Amino acid sequence: MKIVTIVGARPQFIKAAAVSRVLRKTQGVREVLVHTGQHYDANMSEVFFQELEIPRPDYNLGIGSATHGAQTGRMLEAIEEVLFKEKPDWVLVYGDTNSTLAGALAAVKLHIPVAHIEAGLRSFNRRMPEEVNRVLTDHASDILFAPTKAAVENLRREGISEEQIQLVGDVMYDAALYYGKKAERQSQILNRLELKPGEYILATIHRAENTDDPQRLRAIFEGFAEVAQEIKVVLPLHPRTRAALVQVGLYDEVAPNICLIEPVGYLDMVMLEKNARVIVTDSGGVQKEAFFYRVPCLTLREETEWVELVDLGWNRIIPPFSAGVVADAIKSSLKHFEGVEGCPYGDGQSAVKIAQYLVERGRC
Ligand code: UD1
Ligand code: UDP
Repeated sequence: MKIVTIVGARPQFIKAAAVSRVLRKTQGVREVLVHTGQHYDANMSEVFFQELEIPRPDYNLGIGSATHGAQTGRMLEAIEEVLFKEKPDWVLVYGDTNSTLAGALAAVKLHIPVAHIEAGLRSFNRRMPEEVNRVLTDHASDILFAPTKAAVENLRREGISEEQIQLVGDVMYDAALYYGKKAERQSQILNRLELKPGEYILATIHRAENTDDPQRLRAIFEGFAEVAQEIKVVLPLHPRTRAALVQVGLYDEVAPNICLIEPVGYLDMVMLEKNARVIVTDSGGVQKEAFFYRVPCLTLREETEWVELVDLGWNRIIPPFSAGVVADAIKSSLKHFEGVEGCPYGDGQSAVKIAQYLVERGRC
């Protein structure tokens, strides 16, 4: 059985690392890896292939950055060409980026079965590009590998038939378990940045709703600067956010107060997460990783797709409407913050379940 896997953005390399590792050990499966080139800086792409031992992509489409329509359209055309040539039994797509939608759309139009990993998540906010990508991808897919019960419920509510939905758990949990130990052995980031466990806040910001609104961007970074007077704030800076800070003239203002670093590899990120006092983020993946390592998390958004984190008390939603709101929420989280135990993301065997399902099902 031949599977074409489509990846393109940072979180997809991490998810695909967990699944590819299993697929390539599964008898009778041949995986062809396609990198759309949506993320292309060495620290947004290459580092993950090296550290996580992901095989070299069979195709790198080199699409790069562009507006949504141009980027998705170019990917669609280039992926279609690969699919004409490879004629796979399945196309595997991950998450909710433009690479996900382009992969699903290219395949479904050629009547190639599509499997969507991390299906069924919803923010119910159609202004998010990711929400549009997820809804369209789910409805174009033949098999929906849902990470959580809430995701399954969302798909049922949208009328997706029961036999298309498979609750398999979260492949990011598989990755955290597998690579977490490697991170402990290999990462030197705490020494390099002279950080002590529990004595810093880890922050990441990249969501369009935060970077593309100068008022919100200012509120977030001014809030961080205020907190940084009490406790160090370490922030691996996404290129989108760097560009936005420079564009609105905020970069030079915030740089001296916050420990801004380049995006880091996954192993360093895991160590930064595990040892942070509190994590403040708008990332989907980072919210869950905070929970995997039982680190309190504040999500600077108006909603989250990972609702179980809020229900368990490990995550608080803080819409970043002003610097005061951001700073007060972080300061209060330093005083007291504790969730209850729970296991909403499976048993770390999601990739095995996905591989088994695809093999048993054969060609759709
Ligand atoms: C994308 C996904 C988002 C995901 C995020 C993970 C979409 C619509 N968005 O957002 O869901 O959470 O990836 O990180 O697919 N850039 C570089 N170098 C790179 C990559 C990007 O400089 O290697 C800069 C460019 O200025 C680019 C901007 O970042 O225009 C945004 O990149 P893009 O891939 O369009 O979206 P992300 O914000 O990364
Ligand atoms: N990540 C990383 N280095 C960084 C920032 C994030 O390795 O500098 C990892 C993080 O641990 C998680 C994934 O990237 O596994 C999340 O990706 P991102 O926040 O870019 O996207 P999202 O999950 O929001 O789609």
